[in-house]
This record gives sequence, structure tokens and C-alpha cells, in this order.
Amino acid sequence: MEFLEVQGIYKSFGNVSVLRGIDFTLSKGEVLSIIGSSGSGKTTLLRCINLLEKADNGTISVNGEVIIDAKEEDSYTDKQIRNKRLRMGLVFQQFNLFPQYNVIDNLTLAPKLRIKENKSLTKEARLEAVNAINKEAEELLASVGLSDKAKSYPCEISGGQQQRVAIARALMLKPDILCFDEPTSALDPELTGEVLRVIKELKSGDRTMIIVTHEMEFARNVSDKVIFMADGVIEEMGTPEEVFDNPKSEKLKAFLQKSDEKF
Ligand SMILES: Nc1ncnc2c1ncn2[C@@H]1O[C@H](COP(=O)(O)OP(=O)(O)OP(=O)(O)O)[C@@H](O)[C@H]1O
Ligand SMILES: [Mg+2]
Repeated sequence: MEFLEVQGIYKSFGNVSVLRGIDFTLSKGEVLSIIGSSGSGKTTLLRCINLLEKADNGTISVNGEVIIDAKEEDSYTDKQIRNKRLRMGLVFQQFNLFPQYNVIDNLTLAPKLRIKENKSLTKEARLEAVNAINKEAEELLASVGLSDKAKSYPCEISGGQQQRVAIARALMLKPDILCFDEPTSALDPELTGEVLRVIKELKSGDRTMIIVTHEMEFARNVSDKVIFMADGVIEEMGTPEEVFDNPKSEKLKAFLQKSDEKF
């Protein structure tokens, strides 16, 4: 049994098949990068894994437990979906911070809501939990190098800083797997480095991560496994050396050549 098992994921929008049988596994602490042309289905796959999109078919298990079974997805209650979603963190391209809250509140809002909803806690236990969350938020903010921005609002910090806040916020919910959808593509080139550095540090902290990226050099450096998607299928999968240095499929060869030309 692998830590993450994705089996037979299919997804169509209308009569367009976007995912056509996606299968892969990931061990705990491994980093997977997903590369592929625009429209190949990378975001849709991440959204299915995060229950933001309902798959038509397939299962996703974490640590031996089936989190998503497409056949049963319609019967999940809102609470079940929320709890399942917490197992998977997602950092978006556009950061998606709450603009009306300052940085530290962006980190603590969701976990504090969870405490509020937990009716079984005593007043003392509640207070203790809130204090723990505040402390954890401060520590996480320090770990992404932003202690001095705790009271700033998203509009007052740079894109790279916003993305680092978004990463810290996702970590607050202690996801089993942290997913990134092109975390640096909305950033000016000089700001991508700081975000990629933070992601790389997470890897040394033994985080299991899935990263959709067009940063080929980064994917090569940070990944244990690389998936190349084309037209809704995994066209090729392997170690960074296999995928980048010895591509087998013609589509992958063409894709790599094109991304070389871009940089
Ligand atoms: N909600 C939707 N309704 C209809 N079609 C959709 C929807 N979401 C995605 N698609 C289609 O699914 C296909 C895959 O889209 P997806 O966003 O997953 O690609 P991608 O690999 O992430 O591309 P990019 O690199 O541009 O982000 C595209 O053809 C897209 O138009
Ligand atoms: Mg996408």
C-alpha cells in the first residue's frame, strides 16, 4: 500500500473528456511534479483530488483509506466533503488570500472556525486550542520568513510574499498532501525564487507534495517523480532523470524542446 493511490480517474465536461484514466501512487514524503501543455488536464486533476471537482470515475486513497470514490461522491454530506478536503491542501496560482483579513488572520481563520464548530470543547479547552493556533501561525509565518508582515494586509505585500502566506495558510490545516497549481506563474520572475525556495524547504521537512509547474529546472531539482500529461492521460512517468534526460514519447520530446526554447 502506498501513501497516496490515485486510480482510474475520469472526468468529462459535457462531451469533452478531460481526464481519461489517471493512475499513479506516491509514497509518504515524496514530491511529484506534473508537467504538460496547456489544456492537458493538470488543474482538473488537482481539483478532482481536492474535491473541488467531482470525478466521473475512480478512487483516491490516502494511507489506505478511501477518501474519494467517484461513484459515491454524490452522497457525501457537506461536512464529509469539508473533512475530506482538509486531508488535501491546495495552493493556487493566484494566492487567493482573504483581502479583508491581515496576514496572521488569514492563517488562523479556518482553524479557529473549526474550534468554534466543535461543540464538545469546554471553554478552557477552546481557549487553549486558540492559543495553540496563534502560536503555530507565528511559527509558520517565521518559517516562510514573514514574521514582520503578520499585521499587514494582502494588498500591502508583494506577490511572492502573498504566495508564501498562502503556503503557510495551507500548512495550518495539516494536510496529508499539499498540492500546488503553478504556484509561481502569476509572479514576476524575480519573485519566483523565494517561493520555490520555501517549497524546497518543505520537501526537506518530509512533506508529501504534488506540484503542477512549468518550471522545468525546479521540477527536476525538487521531484522524486515526474508525470507528463498529454490530452488527459499520463503520457510518461518516471524519475526526473528518466523524464527530462531520456524522454521516450514523441509528445514529451516535443514538449521539452518547446520549453527549452522559451527559457
Ligand atoms: N469547468 C469547466 N468546464 C468546461 N471545460 C473545462 C472546465 N475546466 C476545464 N475545462 C477544460 O478541460 C481541459 C483541461 O483544462 P485544465 O485547466 O485542467 O488544463 P491544464 O493542464 O491545467 O492547462 P493550463 O496549463 O493552461 O493550466 C481544457 O480543455 C479546459 O478547457
Ligand atoms: Mg492549469
